[in-house]
Amino acid sequence: MKIGVTGATGQLGNFVVAELKKRVASEDIVALVRTPEKAAELGVEAREFNYDKPETLAESLKGIDHLLLISGSEVGKRKEQHTNVVNAAKEVGIQWIVYTSLLHADTSSLSLADEHLATEAVLKSSGIDYTILRNGWYTENYTGSIAGALQAGAFIGSAGEGKVSSAARIDYAEAAAIVITDTSYKGKVFELAGDEYYTLNDLAAEISKQTGKDIPYNNLPEKDYAEILKSVGLPEGLAYAIAGWDVGASKDDLYDDSKQLSALLGRKTTPLSETVKAAL
Ligand SMILES: NC(=O)c1ccc[n+]([C@@H]2O[C@H](COP(=O)([O-])OP(=O)(O)OC[C@H]3O[C@@H](n4cnc5c(N)ncnc54)[C@H](OP(=O)(O)O)[C@@H]3O)[C@@H](O)[C@H]2O)c1
Repeated sequence: MKIGVTGATGQLGNFVVAELKKRVASEDIVALVRTPEKAAELGVEAREFNYDKPETLAESLKGIDHLLLISGSEVGKRKEQHTNVVNAAKEVGIQWIVYTSLLHADTSSLSLADEHLATEAVLKSSGIDYTILRNGWYTENYTGSIAGALQAGAFIGSAGEGKVSSAARIDYAEAAAIVITDTSYKGKVFELAGDEYYTLNDLAAEISKQTGKDIPYNNLPEKDYAEILKSVGLPEGLAYAIAGWDVGASKDDLYDDSKQLSALLGRKTTPLSETVKAAL
């Protein structure tokens, strides 16, 4: 029984492979990656796998039974890319695809939702058994901005008082490894998020507490936030996308209180304070 993991050289994929190695033999794991040389440290078989090269995908999937399709990172290209993977999986008779989607993809106002929902539809009509992991926000999306906040003296965003139930990447990775090694999860759609929510005010308070500095949260209009992100070097499209996702957060698009992630893990999700500490 071989398990293929796409995006295995990415941050989530790295953790997933490590978690899988705790559960199955390394020989049963195949890293499906754009650059096999980058996968050497994973300690498992690596095969070239580029979502943009549909004609090559089936060959790389040969012998794989269960596939974890980690969503790609090129926003706007992903419906086509993921469809390429599903088509190749059909061709070689993959039995089960587990896909990393977006929290509440069917109701979320985030601009990211469309591609995830479209991929879910492709999967559902493929005839292949599937499981959907609708992953919430990584806490690291926000803690990645701590250095900048310390430099600027404030944490900025457009999330207002929105509730964010994020979890650490490792939590989602462990959940993915648990699911793909247990076929009883076939057919399920999980809404995965952290056990406890916080607002960006709470996040700023946690940073202040841990650093001993006064770091307030400054809530900005979407355009102002995007323009600041642009001014520090982000491409315009990404700057506006990030600001837009924060507006989604202000409407509680990143909030979920179902605790399905900790139920899967059999432990609490990583608390905000721990991820802040790790970032510092
Ligand atoms: N829930 C959240 O908060 C959140 C945040 C960011 C992203 N995401 C989604 O979750 C995914 C995993 O997150 P992450 O943190 O691990 O992101 P990441 O570190 O950027 O990893 C993305 C992975 O996708 C691979 N990839 C990109 N384009 C590809 C293509 N054309 N063909 C094959 N592989 C391709 C990358 O390959 P290389 O290693 O060769 O670059 C990389 O391994 C992301 O791709 C994105 O869809 C979720």
